[in-house]
Order: sequence, then C-alpha cells, then structure tokens
Amino acid sequence: MADIGNSNRIAREYIDSLRIETRYMDSTNPTLDFTLYGEQFASPIMTAALSHLDHFMFPGAAEALAQGAKAANAALWYGMADDAEIERLSATGARMIEIIKPYSDRDIIYKKIERATALGLLAVGIDIDHPFGEDGGPDIVDGWEMTALRTAELAEICKHAKLPVIVKGVLSRHDAELCLAAGAGGLVLSHHNNRIEYAVPPLVILPEIAAFAGDTPLFVDCEIRTGMDAFKALALGAKGVCIGRPLMTAIKQSGADGVRDYLLKANAELGKAMAYTGCTSLDRMDCTVIRRV
Ligand SMILES: Cc1cc2nc3c(=O)[nH]c(=O)nc-3n(C[C@H](O)[C@H](O)[C@H](O)COP(=O)(O)O)c2cc1C
Repeated sequence: MADIGNSNRIAREYIDSLRIETRYMDSTNPTLDFTLYGEQFASPIMTAALSHLDHFMFPGAAEALAQGAKAANAALWYGMADDAEIERLSATGARMIEIIKPYSDRDIIYKKIERATALGLLAVGIDIDHPFGEDGGPDIVDGWEMTALRTAELAEICKHAKLPVIVKGVLSRHDAELCLAAGAGGLVLSHHNNRIEYAVPPLVILPEIAAFAGDTPLFVDCEIRTGMDAFKALALGAKGVCIGRPLMTAIKQSGADGVRDYLLKANAELGKAMAYTGCTSLDRMDCTVIRRV
C-alpha cells in the first residue's frame, strides 16, 4: 500500500463514490457559458495553477498550456513564476490568474500583484497551503522562504489589491471563514497535489463552505479529470474547476493542441451531464442530483 494516505487517491475515490441522478423531463440543451470576474469563457473548466513546466518538461511547455487554454477559451491559472515567465504567458493572449506563493518577504507579494494588475490579469491568488516544508519548518521554494499568512495580512493585501485576491488551498470552515472575512475574492478548495496526506477531499468540504460563502466564487481542483468530475463539483457548489496534471500529459503528447482538445472533450462531457440531469445552465446546478453510494 505505497500510496496509503495519499490525498489524490482519497479524493479520487470520493469523486467516484458520487453518482448522478438523471432528470430528462423538461430538460433542454445546456449552455456552459461562463462569466468569471467580468469576462466570458466557453466553460467553467480551467487549467490548474501549474508551474515550472519549462523546467520539469521542456522549454515552451508553459506557453503550450497558455495557448491551449486560449484556444479552448478557458481561463488560464498559473503558479509560481518569475516576472518574465508571467509576461510571456500573458502575451499569448490567454486570460490569466496568477497564484503567488506566501513569500516570507511580503513585499514580493505586493510587487507581483502590482505587476499582474499592470498586465491586465483577471485576478491574483495566494496558495496559503505552501508555508511549511516536510518537517513542519518553513518551506523553501526555489531558494525563497515561505511563511503562513496571517488573517490581518490577507485583509491588508485584499484591501490594497485592485484585482480580486483568491485564496488557494482552503480545506476547512476555519480557513474559509477567515479568508472570506479578510475580503478574499474567491477560494480554491484544494490539497495542492497531496501537500498533506489524508487531506479532506475538496468535494467533501465544498457543500459546507458553499453554505456560507455567499457570492464569493468557490473553485475546486485535485483529481478533476473529466466533465463528469467537473459536473459533480459544480452541482455541489463550485463556480469553476481546474485540471492540472492531465494537462501536463496532454502537453507532452500534443503540445497546445493537446491541452485544447483535453479541455474541449471535458466541456463536451460536462454538457452531456448537464443535459441528462436537467441542470441546463451554470446557474441551474442542483446538488440534489448527486447521490453518495
Ligand atoms: C508540476 C506542478 C506544479 C505546481 N505548481 C503550483 C504552484 O506554483 N502554485 C499552486 O498553487 N499550485 C501548484 N500546483 C498544484 C496544482 O495547482 C493543483 O492544485 C494540483 O496539481 C491538483 O490538481 P490535479 O490533481 O488536477 O493535478 C502544481 C502542481 C504540479 C503538478
């Protein structure tokens, strides 16, 4: 049992345990039209905030992700990157959300938000789940030290930023309440590819957080693989979902076209699930079509 406790496996099993009730009577062809922070997209299925792709994969891999997202008319989320990389990705024309690390030097966060604003990005975010390393001490990423965000710091950042500030890595009512009180413009329910073992699957905590999040959009990633997975998350209260590692495989196989095709296939699967359940638009999602077995 090499992967005992692996949060990806646990999340996968939970998604698979959710079944869909069909509702054909009075259903119609669905529309996936999606508005996010005032911009229109083809679907609420987006790329996850990946990073270091040119390093882990090959030079140009990150741009392939951006071009594929643009071709699918999907929002591009991207993670840790230097200024030049963010500028290159933004120059592809993909509409982009940058997730910034919780740098101990908070000035870096402010500077990155300013640059994101100047570039006209859609939103920024902070992955609050990256402050600690494997021994619980400070995490060091690419030589940069990280520190857990304090609620007052997040409130100050949200107040100062001209873009919505999304918090990524929320997996509890505790964090969700504090982030919403601090003015977060969105929450990503995520365990960030198994940062901690035995993490609560995002879809377990989603309905509880959706019950008090009001108009603040909730997003989900971790093991979202198909339009069916996306449908389950949307029905349970997510505004949008993000797909990460499968898009790396798609890039390896077919570059930007692979990313586009993966996203378009997921959109088609989502459309099917919406039509078959009578949830024919994103504002008509209904959690009662989901049943746990
Ligand atoms: C290579 C790689 C790099 C990542 N870099 C970041 C990052 O910089 N910031 C971030 O918030 N999440 C990062 N993530 C986490 C993803 O955004 C996402 O939460 C995670 O991969 C789960 O989604 P998935 O199961 O669809 O891959 C990264 C994931 C991978 C695989």
